[in-house]
Amino acid sequence: MAANLGEGLSDANGGSVRHIPVLLDGVLKALEPQAGKVILDGTFGAGGYTRAILDAGADVIALDRDPNAIAGGQSMVDEFNGRLTLNHTEFSALADFAPEGGLDGVVLDIGVSSMQIDEAERGFSFQRNGPLDMRMSSSGVSAADVVNRAKVSDLIRIFGFLGEEKHSGRIARAIEKRRLSEPFQTTRDLANLIETVNPRKAKDKIHPATRVFQALRIFVNDELGELAWALFAAEQALKPGGRLVVVTFHSLEDRIVKKFFSERAGKASGSRHLPMVEARKATFEPVGKGMVAASEEEAELNPRARSAKLRAGIRTTAPPEKPDMAIFDLPDLATLEKIGG
Ligand SMILES: C[S@@+](CC[C@H](N)C(=O)[O-])C[C@H]1O[C@@H](n2cnc3c(N)ncnc32)[C@H](O)[C@@H]1O
Repeated sequence: MAANLGEGLSDANGGSVRHIPVLLDGVLKALEPQAGKVILDGTFGAGGYTRAILDAGADVIALDRDPNAIAGGQSMVDEFNGRLTLNHTEFSALADFAPEGGLDGVVLDIGVSSMQIDEAERGFSFQRNGPLDMRMSSSGVSAADVVNRAKVSDLIRIFGFLGEEKHSGRIARAIEKRRLSEPFQTTRDLANLIETVNPRKAKDKIHPATRVFQALRIFVNDELGELAWALFAAEQALKPGGRLVVVTFHSLEDRIVKKFFSERAGKASGSRHLPMVEARKATFEPVGKGMVAASEEEAELNPRARSAKLRAGIRTTAPPEKPDMAIFDLPDLATLEKIGG
């Protein structure tokens, strides 16, 4: 996570990676970790949140879909001697890890890690040339598969919705033309084509390929679907009084979290797929007065914290609602299964 970087700090294992967990104070305040509590950290990453929660006295069940994050965290598992378990899995499956009686807290810090971005081989970045991959779990459909196989109409929708790219049609058609003669293999290759189609202007703050890369990363890792299913899973897995804390870096993700909490707060709701429905019993009450953002000092120290948003809720005694993706009003995009063939 580019924003979680700072100079000269140590990582969860006492190593010297430059890592600053984003909105850590707000996360701890909202989670209230203490001895006797069991908290699930669905996004272990470099273990920044996990270490702080363990230091506060709670036990941690940590998950990450990235095999490298799991390998990197093994020394921390040894260090905390039975108080930390580390599991290689998607956080949408978090309910499978809840102890009998439920969890006291769930925290999710959505997005990619600095380790993922920094390693050219993972293919997340066009600043560092590497294979066009972007899979956090290193398995399944890669970004190259999507770019080389998806129908143009699917690429247009992926770039337009997940990247909010204005030139999605022009870029998708140029990709189709080019891949006929030579499939895309590297991050630079794709970035160069996008720059040809959509040259950078002096006033542009970001590289012309940024939005397409973001869209591909979100699509390849099904980031919105994973988040939505994790929220439903947390509703099932938290005990009454348990806390759900979610940090996002992207408006599409924040919208999902905001919709979930407002829907679960028992307010009446409707969507383009659902008629207006009457208020139900709240399954979550808000923690604090809504969204928490980084202070000026944190944003200064850690540029990516500028886009971070924290939302949190406390589980009530009401039974969980039936999961229903329609509440998020997400558009129909091609599925990874369809592209994987
Ligand atoms: C922003 S980093 C987390 C940083 C962590 N809070 C820390 O303080 O070190 C996000 C991590 O979540 C993992 N991740 C993202 N989506 C996931 C998912 N659906 N299931 C499990 N892990 C996921 C990524 O592999 C990455 O390691």
